[in-house]
Amino acid sequence: PRTAILISGRGSNMVSLLKAAEDPAYPASFVLAASNRPEAPGLVHAASAGLATLALDHRAFPDRAAFDAALDAGLRAHGIDLVVLAGFMRVLTPGFVEAWAGRMVNIHPSLLPLFRGTHTHAQALAAGVRLHGCTVHFVVPELDAGPIIAQAAVPVRPDDDEDSLAARVLAQEHRLYPAAVALVASGGARLDGDRVVFAAEAV
Ligand code: GRF
Repeated sequence: PRTAILISGRGSNMVSLLKAAEDPAYPASFVLAASNRPEAPGLVHAASAGLATLALDHRAFPDRAAFDAALDAGLRAHGIDLVVLAGFMRVLTPGFVEAWAGRMVNIHPSLLPLFRGTHTHAQALAAGVRLHGCTVHFVVPELDAGPIIAQAAVPVRPDDDEDSLAARVLAQEHRLYPAAVALVASGGARLDGDRVVFAAEAV
């Protein structure tokens, strides 16, 4: 599938996806990087890797619906089949999410359904959990609530602070996301209503 990566910032998850796709057998073809922040450093990297780039400054749009309409048009103009959110820090409208249902995935830095929203590593430290991690899920209108495709766990160490924990989780994100996107791109995991069907259990 022709795949777009949506970012807002540094784009380290995007870099890990592009690296995985250097293998000719990788099932997703990354053709477009889009950002709601024109200054996102990740866009420069994407362009140098040969992707088309789309910078849509959300501040230039009157409301979320107008921004999402422009994003939707951009994705369609590039013939996109699959949308991968990678540190994309913008809430998408239900209309947009429904238009891309089953064709849009996100990575979230916690073991969902724990710790939705932002500052997930601080949330984990405050809760005193001994395991933390990251989750790849299909995107549904409710934030960080979509059906789960894959997860990776890391230990929380007694001397951890937000930064040390974030770094340990990020290393797993970089491993997990390319694998999970490959699973979706190859049809090995697909959304069926409100659950994920994995190829191994398909009849
Ligand atoms: C990642 O931890 C991602 O899970 C979160 O924001 C961070 C983005 O990092 N939502 P990067 O832009 O991919 O480097």
